This record gives sequence, structure tokens and C-alpha cells, in this order.
Amino acid sequence: MSRIVPYVVALLSVSANASAQASATHDPGTRVFRLDGGNTSYVFGVNPRGELQQLYWGGRLAATDHVPPAVPMREMASFDSSYTTTPQEYAGWGAGLFVEPALKVTFADGNRDLVLHYESHTATADGFDVVLDEIQREISVTLHYTIDPESGILARSATIENREAEPVTLEQAAAAAWALPPAPYTLSYLTGRWAGEWTLTQETVRPGARVLESRRGSTGHQANPWFAIQAGAPDEDHGEVWFGALAWSGSWRITVEQDQLDAVRVTGGFNPFDFGYVLHPGERLETPVFYGGYSAHGLGGASRLLHRYQLEHVLPRREGPGPGAVPKPRPVIYNSWEATYFDVTEAGQMALAEKAAALGVDRFVMDDGWFGQRRNDRAGLGDWYVNPEKFPNGLEPLIDAVHSLGMDFGLWVEPEMVNPDSDLYREHPDWVLNFPGRPRSEGRNQLVLNLARADVRDHVLEVLDGLLKENDIAFLKWDYNRNWSEPGWDQLPPREQKRVYVDFPRNVYGILKELRRRHPGVEIESCSGGGGRVDLGILEYVDEVWPSDNTDPFDRLTQQDGFTYAYTPQVMMAWVTESPHWLNRRTTSLAYRMLSAMQGSLGIGANITRWTAEETALAARLIRAYHEVQATIVQGDLYRLISPRNGSAFSATQTVSRDRSQSVVFVFIHSTQEGRGFPRLKLKGLDPAADYTLVPIEGKARTGTPPVASGAWWMNRGLEMDQGFRGDFQGGAFRLDRSER
Ligand code: DGJ
Repeated sequence: MSRIVPYVVALLSVSANASAQASATHDPGTRVFRLDGGNTSYVFGVNPRGELQQLYWGGRLAATDHVPPAVPMREMASFDSSYTTTPQEYAGWGAGLFVEPALKVTFADGNRDLVLHYESHTATADGFDVVLDEIQREISVTLHYTIDPESGILARSATIENREAEPVTLEQAAAAAWALPPAPYTLSYLTGRWAGEWTLTQETVRPGARVLESRRGSTGHQANPWFAIQAGAPDEDHGEVWFGALAWSGSWRITVEQDQLDAVRVTGGFNPFDFGYVLHPGERLETPVFYGGYSAHGLGGASRLLHRYQLEHVLPRREGPGPGAVPKPRPVIYNSWEATYFDVTEAGQMALAEKAAALGVDRFVMDDGWFGQRRNDRAGLGDWYVNPEKFPNGLEPLIDAVHSLGMDFGLWVEPEMVNPDSDLYREHPDWVLNFPGRPRSEGRNQLVLNLARADVRDHVLEVLDGLLKENDIAFLKWDYNRNWSEPGWDQLPPREQKRVYVDFPRNVYGILKELRRRHPGVEIESCSGGGGRVDLGILEYVDEVWPSDNTDPFDRLTQQDGFTYAYTPQVMMAWVTESPHWLNRRTTSLAYRMLSAMQGSLGIGANITRWTAEETALAARLIRAYHEVQATIVQGDLYRLISPRNGSAFSATQTVSRDRSQSVVFVFIHSTQEGRGFPRLKLKGLDPAADYTLVPIEGKARTGTPPVASGAWWMNRGLEMDQGFRGDFQGGAFRLDRSER
């Protein structure tokens, strides 16, 4: 029988889906806090020692369920320490903590012991703020919790405040720690390299720590700040999955640990490597947000929740009133990079623009090479004036031509970098990250401007603002082509210089935010030599990302598969480029290249002036077909039906619009072997009672396939490909439209 307690219940916002409600409750009797949203409950409490202890994270509990008060975990032996085995919401490094701390501090007097206890809390609009105080010193941490009514995704972060009379140095500051009870788990995470981002890596969670991180000053291609932990073996459709994503575009770290008693915790935030943030008396440091969610429907369920959350809560320019508003599908773009590289001229760009318009492209983007003395990658970065030899009359004639062709105009910039061979560097050699007197390492012949400095930040903002004021530009492709080295900031006293890890990314966000404020119509892409800066931090300020410089349509299938575990296809730009491809020398048909790119937000990046009339007609037809189903593809519920990973001969994806009125299926043969035909596809997520008409976009279904059948048919009997669908690097696409009975 449930105990009657004086509950403080706050009914939080109601989502677009009227049945989805969130609530935040605090029981003063048991000192238990509970957040409910979507199909998720998250519960923590104050234990008798005063620590904030996680109690439950998983499927939604009944409103009548009362979670018992927090009791510290036991020690098996004197070597364990209950301070370690108790899953604290935000543990200070002190007492007997042998696992990853959330916060590690050195005080002015040399004390490094930090123990945080519950002090107070306030209910907020969509969750709680809970204050922890150090047991003796004047350090407090406010933990922020919100929950989304529809997805149950939590947003957690911390504000650390120094109320001591002396400065303290923060050596480690996490956004949050998540805990799971002992069980067999599989960890999924994303790894890669330049031109090889988005590899889904999976392994059994084992004793010890698996560290996912970037020490590079930005998000990085090598690992992405996302994780998913599944109970048991990985499964797309079934089983419990706990997942998280860190909203930070600087050096970051997520540590997944299994402790000596088999419990698992995941701690993430600023990367503690080389970290040392001096907090002066009265100052605060806000951590990034660490999002976390739960799905009972496998990895597919987890990514569908994340996609929806990004569309409805993270991305800018959400349209329409109230909850459920999402950004518009992206314009189909043309980008000049792979067509011209640095060999940019007014006439050449105009020729490309004319052809792009004939294809039905919405936006023409001129990439690198238009500014300063930029003839190659050895010069010009930093000098954001239009190159007078390439564009004797400025950008206006080209932009006017693009407009008169019915497209808007976008421009490439890389504002955080400078080539030593540039006017900017000659004028301000002290503006780059460096340790005085030490050599400065270059990457792609460039140095990193120290955007943590207010003067450099202001300069970059004004330069970009000027470009946007002087030219009718609808879109900026914002690139970033190297990682930090020698990250000194010699204008600050030595012990303060590590602020760069916090101030630089925050100033990048600040510039993006201010540019958007001054130029609300301008859209922005985050690019970092491909997918080196994709995370939920930057996605608050940009409309799309460039996932990889690898535009090979076959490699992209696996990359796009990996990408969608963490991020919505809405932001996943994908271009159709040349065949044979410059990277893998692979030859593919234009239809295959188009279909591969149509799985995300479509772009064209080939030298289209060389395309034949047939190629032009094919691309134009598929762009028209894409426009008709784009919203379903990039904003619907994604089902990865057959994975392209692990040498699979086939792959397939399906998206279903939110109202289940439309579905789009993509099928790909990587390599037909031993004459095997494409497997029958049992579709997912349709309304079983509704009828759906099958409309081929490219390719044919097997002879005898009914033109109209119920959702139940397509999901149980399935969709079969034409028997002639064979070969290597083949693709097909179909739409299913709900039809009236
Ligand atoms: C790297 C980007 O990822 C490419 O798309 C292109 O913009 C080049 N930089 C230009 O230098």
C-alpha cells in the first residue's frame, strides 16, 4: 500500500502530443526528487549523509509509485568506500572517491578535499535546481535538471560558484553523472578520422573506464560526444537503452566506468586534461549541458527520441506556434568546392550557377577561394575581402545572377583561422594561440586565432557582420580546418591561461548568436573539415552540419548510418559529387549517388557544367521527387532496416512522417554475391489499419506487388524488390502515401 505523503507536485509543460505530460515532484518526507516525462522517470534523493544519490532512471513509473528514500550503498570491503559505491549525482573529489569525480578543486591553501551535500532546491518551469554546498568551504554547486514532456530527455548541467575569499582552481568540472545498476551492457559510441567519421563502435561494458574524448579544443572527428548503453546485446528495435549527448564544442570527455561492484556510471563535461579554471571570489562557472534519455525500443527508439528532441528543442529557427514546432527542411544546395577547389572566378561560378538552377537547386554556395590572396591553402585566411582579380566588381554581379536564377546565395568562411601569409597575421602576430618564444605548429598552413581574447572575438564578429551587411548572403558555411596546438594565451597570468578551454568555444557560440541576432535571415552550417564540429552545443546556433569531406556515396551510407544514431537527418548535408570519386576511385552511377545523398539534406557538389543532358534530366527529376518527400525523410521517424555495417551486402532505411501519412524507403545493394536477391523488407511504423499506395521514386518493386495495401501488409508481408535489382552499388527508393479507403 502506498504511503500518503505531502507531495509537492508540479505539472510541467504539456507537449505537442497532448497525452505527453511531464511532472516534477519532491517529497519532503523521503527527500526524494522525481522527474517524469515521455516514457521515462528519473529519481534521486538526499541520503542520510546528505549526498545527492541517484535512485532510478528508466521506464516511466506510475504516479502512485513512491520510490523509497536514498540509502548509501554498502562497502564490500574496506577498499571500496561507500562514498565511491554510492551513485552520487555530482560527486566532489574528496572523502574516499575512487571513481571519476564530477568536480575536482584545489583551494588557495592547498586543500583538495571537496565533499558536496544537499543544501536546498527550487522548482523551475520544467524541472529542479538543486543546490549542493561544500561541507566546510564556501563552494556551492547548483545542479539544473529539466525533462522534456514528450521524449523524457533530461537536460542536466551545473553552475559552480566560489564564495571563498580566495580564488580556487577547478581541475575537473563535469556537467552531470549518470548511473546504471549492475547488469551486462553494450556501449555504443561514434569514432572516426578525417574523411572517415561516424563509425558506430560497439563493445561490452567491462570493469574499468572507457574514455571518449577530444583534447583538441573542438569536438573532433575522432570521437563524438554521444553514447548509448544497451542492456544486453545491441538491438535496433528492442531492449532498454540509456543514451546521452554532451552539448560542448570544446575539449570534452565522457567516461563510462564499471566499478568494482559492477555498477556503471557515465560522467561527462569539460575535458579535465590540461584543465584549470581559476574561479575568483564571487565568480561562477557554468558547465555545458549533458542530455540523457531512455528508450525501451532499442537503439532505433533512442535515436528517434534524440532526433525529435533536436528538431523541437535544440535547433534554431523552429517554426510555428507552441510545442512541436520544427525548422523547415533545408534548401537543396549547390556547393562549388569539388568543382573548382581554389580556382574560383566570377565566370566559372556563374556557369555553375546557371546549371544548378536548371537542376532545380534552391541555394548556390561559393566555397573556399574567393577572398584575400587565396589561390591555395597557403595564404589568405584572415583577409576577408573579396579578391579583386577574381571578382573585379565584388560579389554583387555573381549574387545578382544567382538571385535572378531563382536561388539564394551562400558563402564559405573560416573565421577562426589565419594563414601566416596574410595581412591579418602580419598585423597581429600576437593574436594566435601560442606559448611565447615557442614554435607554433601549423595545420594546413594555418594557425588558430585566439578567440578567447575579447579583441579577437570582436574583430571576427565585425568582419562577418560587415560581409553580411555588404552582400546579400543567405547562408554561411563556417569551416574550421585544424585542431589546437600550443594553446597558450600569453596575455593572461600563467595560472589563468587555461581559461582558453572554456572562453574560446563560448565566444564562438557568442559570435554565432550575435550574428543570428543581427542577421536573423542568415542560415549557418557548421563544418570542420567535414564532421569535426558536430555536437548539441553548436547545433543550438547552426541550421545544418557538414558530416564529412568524404562524399563517396558508398562510404556515405555507413557514415550516414552512424551519424543518425546521434543526430537528425535534417542537419545531415549530403552532396552528389563526381564519379570516379576522388577519395576511393570508385565508379558509381548518378542515380546511386543521388539516392545515397537523398537520405539526408540533399546537395550537389559535382562539376555540373560537364553533366550530359541525360544526367541533368535525371538529377532534376530526382530533386523534384526529393522535394516532395523531403520533410518525411529528414524529419520523420527513422528506422534503420538493414545496416550497411560489417560488410553487409545490402542496406535499407525507412522514414515515416509523424502523422504516418507518408513513408520513404531507400534500398541499396553494395555487392550482389552468389546471385542473392535483395531481402524482403518488413516495413515499420505505419498505421496497420490504413491503406498505403506504393510509388517508386527510383527502381521497381517485384512484379505482382500490390499498388495499394494496408500498413499491416507492408509491415508483415513486406516489400520486395524487382528480381532484376542486382549488381554492385545499386540503389532504389519508394514512397508510400496513405490513401483514402
Ligand atoms: C574543408 C571542408 O570540409 C570542405 O567542404 C571545403 O569547404 C574545404 N574545407 C575548403 O577549404
